[in-house]
Amino acid sequence: MIQKNIPIFFFSGTGNTWWVAKHLAGALSKHNSEASIHSIEQVTPQQVGDLIDQSDLIGLGYPIYGSDAPLIMQEFIAGLPKQGETKPMLVFVTQAAWSGDGAYFIRPEVEANGYQVRWAVHFTMPNNINVDLGWVLNAFLRLFRAKPSNTLPRIEKLARKMVEGHDWIMGQSPCFSLGWVQRVPFRKGIETLQQGTYQVDSEKCNACGRCERICPVGNISMVDGLPRYDSHCILCLRCFNYCPQLAIEAFGKPFNPDWFGEKPYQGPEPEFSPEQLINKAPRSF
Ligand SMILES: Cc1cc2nc3c(=O)[nH]c(=O)nc-3n(C[C@H](O)[C@H](O)[C@H](O)COP(=O)(O)O)c2cc1C
Repeated sequence: MIQKNIPIFFFSGTGNTWWVAKHLAGALSKHNSEASIHSIEQVTPQQVGDLIDQSDLIGLGYPIYGSDAPLIMQEFIAGLPKQGETKPMLVFVTQAAWSGDGAYFIRPEVEANGYQVRWAVHFTMPNNINVDLGWVLNAFLRLFRAKPSNTLPRIEKLARKMVEGHDWIMGQSPCFSLGWVQRVPFRKGIETLQQGTYQVDSEKCNACGRCERICPVGNISMVDGLPRYDSHCILCLRCFNYCPQLAIEAFGKPFNPDWFGEKPYQGPEPEFSPEQLINKAPRSF
């Protein structure tokens, strides 16, 4: 089953999900299938609709936040065009350690719109949370530093299963579907996190405006030479991890190099920068 048209729509805060999408497209091309990858920050609803109309199957990729999909991805999924005929779907997630059913739990929602999840796969990538949360949690966070290249065999396996037409669903067994154990409290606490997480150190900030430019949801605006946060942060960590001055504090604390190295996590390869994923396509939020 060779598919010629596979658009993969992904969101990636700090590069991991982009990296997996890129390597998956590469692996599929070795099997004579053709996948194109699209940051959801760059496509318009019209383009999404056209790409899906012309597709044999579609892919979705997102990083796991508390076993959940990022809010920007949830909006994207809710807006997917309804299908008359069933459209096969791949869902993959990147995670630092564990997501339970992170790629599979969206199934009822997408299936109600005519998509059929045939591949739901998790990839373990480096942890992008380098926020100083006290030594117990810092020690825990530091444990998860998977090497991106270790995911390549699983990417290859997924590509093979897709071209051979064999389904592969992870997160289905009762113990893995425990994702709700994380998802429910995460959803309860998200509004608090959206509002009070970041502050800016005005001594360090040089008003370069990068945080404003790279925020995927326009939650940051420069006011009187300092970034000001609105209340619809999606927690992707871009502003914190990519501030050239390390001027952004999370929960009142700056980046702590004693725990996390010289700078916060900035993606799976040195060439990556979040600027390549943004275009500020018109969106509904
Ligand atoms: C707010 C937030 C919550 C996260 N929750 C989880 C989690 O529940 N389980 C996990 O394994 N990783 C979790 N992570 C780590 C990311 O899922 C992981 O590093 C991912 O690969 C980042 O992808 P990206 O670089 O494409 O943004 C979380 C990261 C953030 C920012």
